[in-house]
Amino acid sequence: MPDPAVAEAMAGRQVRHDNVYMNKEKALKLLNEEQLAYCITHSKLHEGTTQAVPGAGNSDTDILFIGEAPGQKEDETGVPFVGAAGKLLASLLESIGMKREDIFIANVIKHRPPSNRDPLPEEIEVYRPWLAGQIEIINPKIIVTLGRFSMDFILGPGFSISQIHGQPKRKNGRVVVPLYHPAAALYSGNLRPVLFEDFKKIPKIIELVKEEQTEETNVHTEKQKNLL
Ligand code: URA
Repeated sequence: MPDPAVAEAMAGRQVRHDNVYMNKEKALKLLNEEQLAYCITHSKLHEGTTQAVPGAGNSDTDILFIGEAPGQKEDETGVPFVGAAGKLLASLLESIGMKREDIFIANVIKHRPPSNRDPLPEEIEVYRPWLAGQIEIINPKIIVTLGRFSMDFILGPGFSISQIHGQPKRKNGRVVVPLYHPAAALYSGNLRPVLFEDFKKIPKIIELVKEEQTEETNVHTEKQKNLL
């Protein structure tokens, strides 16, 4: 019977944070504390907000969804995507047989911008290590970006969401699925069916990524066998 800590580490559920092995939930909690302190000393964005909204969900997931920034309901509750856009996200997930508990949801910016304005470039920079740290800890195989701010964050500048929405890309060993933000579909009704269509591709992408993973493991095992 392997040591439970070793088994956890082998299953990828343990990560190294500050040179100590711990489970992902604990690592995320420490990251939140560290980055909250950093952001409130390097940006005024938190002023006038109720609380930070770091992200929520299953930290052992293979799929990370990234939005833009909290809105009013998220500021009140501390939970991402619980307002009108969140309700649409829940319907989109349900339409493909998924639940919030299956995924992790984070935002580029963790404090609500005044009157829900767009985040400023300097704010994105201050909050960058927070989201980058979450990605490193969760280590998802698939990242679904919602809207152009998270798309730019993950893919870099130069892409247009109207051109690449729903088209999976590879970046740093992960599959990135750029999608419209649910709020955009609330404002512009004709984007709603587009978003539902794009969401339909997610289960297939998950399947393909799993197949790739199995093939990689088989090749790895074959190579190990050949070495013995
Ligand atoms: N929009 C976002 O981008 N994130 C939220 O958490 C809520 C709305």
